[in-house]
Amino acid sequence: MFSLKTERPHDAAEIDALLDLAFGPNRQGKTSYRYRDGIAPVRGLCFVVREDGRPSGRILGSIRYWPLMVGPDMRALLLGPLAVRPELRGAGVGATLMRRSMERAADQGHRLVLLVGDLAYYARFGFQPAAPLGFTMPDEQPHRLLVAELRLGALEGCVGGTLLRADPASSAQISVSMRAALC
Ligand SMILES: CC(C)(COP(=O)(O)OP(=O)(O)OC[C@H]1O[C@@H](n2cnc3c(N)ncnc32)[C@H](O)[C@@H]1OP(=O)(O)O)[C@@H](O)C(=O)NCCC(=O)NCCS
Repeated sequence: MFSLKTERPHDAAEIDALLDLAFGPNRQGKTSYRYRDGIAPVRGLCFVVREDGRPSGRILGSIRYWPLMVGPDMRALLLGPLAVRPELRGAGVGATLMRRSMERAADQGHRLVLLVGDLAYYARFGFQPAAPLGFTMPDEQPHRLLVAELRLGALEGCVGGTLLRADPASSAQISVSMRAALC
């Protein structure tokens, strides 16, 4: 059982080092980063797992979420990066970060979450290919774009759309405005 803590500002440097380790120093060239640059992550949804659950323990895993627009009208979440220290992989840290954060996102009123990643890993958390449902992230490999509903039925009748950067000015309000979001 791993204990999640909400990410704090002073965790950023250690998380950056973990992400460099997991994805390589060129990670910021990935298309998904264009949806994060200059935009605040969603408050209350970014978590870390620390060694022994102690505040002073090393960060073993990290997950972040960002506001996202699908077309001009539909709000969603962009999940990522998710990373776990190499020596801890396979112990359930990733699954704990995924399940607990998705539960929290649903509690906050979010309806849809998208990510770029391997279906073989993310299917167990309810993700499915997003391209067949009409979602597109320009310049990204279509088969790596995945979507999951956080509320049962959120994808019913949903026709997808092109993923757009959220407005940085409104991202701080995202948790509140998501409660009224339509899909
Ligand atoms: C992907 C990652 C976050 C998983 O974290 P974790 O704590 O090892 O995950 P869990 O312990 O919850 O699950 C491990 C299981 O996922 C599987 N798995 C891990 N990465 C996978 C992948 N890319 N594709 C398919 N299965 C994968 C493992 O083989 C293992 O399978 P098992 O349960 O049958 O033994 C971690 O491996 C990591 O940081 N990888 C590098 C960064 C990365 O790829 N991030 C995700 C972007 S796609």
